[in-house]
Amino acid sequence: MGCYLVTGGAGYVGSHLVRALADRGDTVVVVDDLRQGHRGAVPEGVELIRSDLADRKRLGEVFASWRFDAVFHFAALSLVGESMRDPLRYCMENLSNSLGLADAAVKAGCLRFVLSSTAALFGDPEQVPIPEDARLAPTNAYGESKLMVEKGLLWADRVHGLRSACLRYFNAAGADPEGRIGEDHEPETHLVPLAIGAALGLRPPLTVFGTDYPTPDGTCIRDYVHVTDLADAHLRVLDRLEQGSVRYNLGNGTGYSVRQVIEAVERIGGRPVPHSLGPRRAGDPAVLVASSERLQRETGWLPRFGALDDIVRTAWAWHAAHPRGYGDR
Ligand code: UFG
Repeated sequence: MGCYLVTGGAGYVGSHLVRALADRGDTVVVVDDLRQGHRGAVPEGVELIRSDLADRKRLGEVFASWRFDAVFHFAALSLVGESMRDPLRYCMENLSNSLGLADAAVKAGCLRFVLSSTAALFGDPEQVPIPEDARLAPTNAYGESKLMVEKGLLWADRVHGLRSACLRYFNAAGADPEGRIGEDHEPETHLVPLAIGAALGLRPPLTVFGTDYPTPDGTCIRDYVHVTDLADAHLRVLDRLEQGSVRYNLGNGTGYSVRQVIEAVERIGGRPVPHSLGPRRAGDPAVLVASSERLQRETGWLPRFGALDDIVRTAWAWHAAHPRGYGDR
């Protein structure tokens, strides 16, 4: 059993990793400022420290109080659209918080670090599915901020021996199959919860952003990956770090269009998704699909909830049972 620090562990993806660690009996400490996270997402028995990562003194105290086997770093600004209105804040905050955390880890002698990275690193890809060694050319400031963090971590490996795994998520979706936790963002900008919310009458009708993309049905194609499968990948990469730092893509390797997601929600939910057709959203690439071949080969990871219907079914169950999410706003 290990002892792990999870920043952003009260947030959507982070809380699913915290469950996976707690379920197998590990000691988990969560640092989360609860700007996006929810106290209700953190299970009993897990220490939740409400703190901003910018508070380095508090961070130092946390590292002095526990002996962590690894750090999982989820806490970040992560909205692509917002990053294009406030690029300097994104670059500054994501970079300084992430490298400040890495610095604290190195000083405490904790030399394993797992970063939530993003498919936004690839911009408009030259090749689909996107291989793990594809050209890195973000088209938004959010992606750039994560790329800067990845680069900083490589230097920390060279100089301090800090082994890092950067996991480039494609489209995280779905909810805990046992229904304990799910997705609750404010504002919500993601397709799956917005489509489900519209079908349940909890949100306004969905707007489809663009119907003139060079795809079979004209709408954007994305690689939706179940949040529980994301959590599982985090556990698997830890062992791999013994051999050095790694960079992996995390997706199912199958793309679905916006229309196909709407159809899946209608199929699972048994009711229509009220929606209208609108113009493109700025900065959206037409197709983003991962090749996670290296991750699969090197860690044995395989998605357990790879089917779009599994993703939508678990998300639907969470939203139907929690119409106000965690109910803390
Ligand atoms: N979409 C709509 N209507 C909506 C919301 C989304 O049509 O109301 C479309 C988008 O245009 C896109 C698809 O649904 O084609 C998925 O959009 P999301 O906002 O759910 O996800 P993104 O692909 O834009 O972004 C996700 C993560 C980012 C990450 C990015 C990397 O949320 O953090 O993948 O690809 F950077």
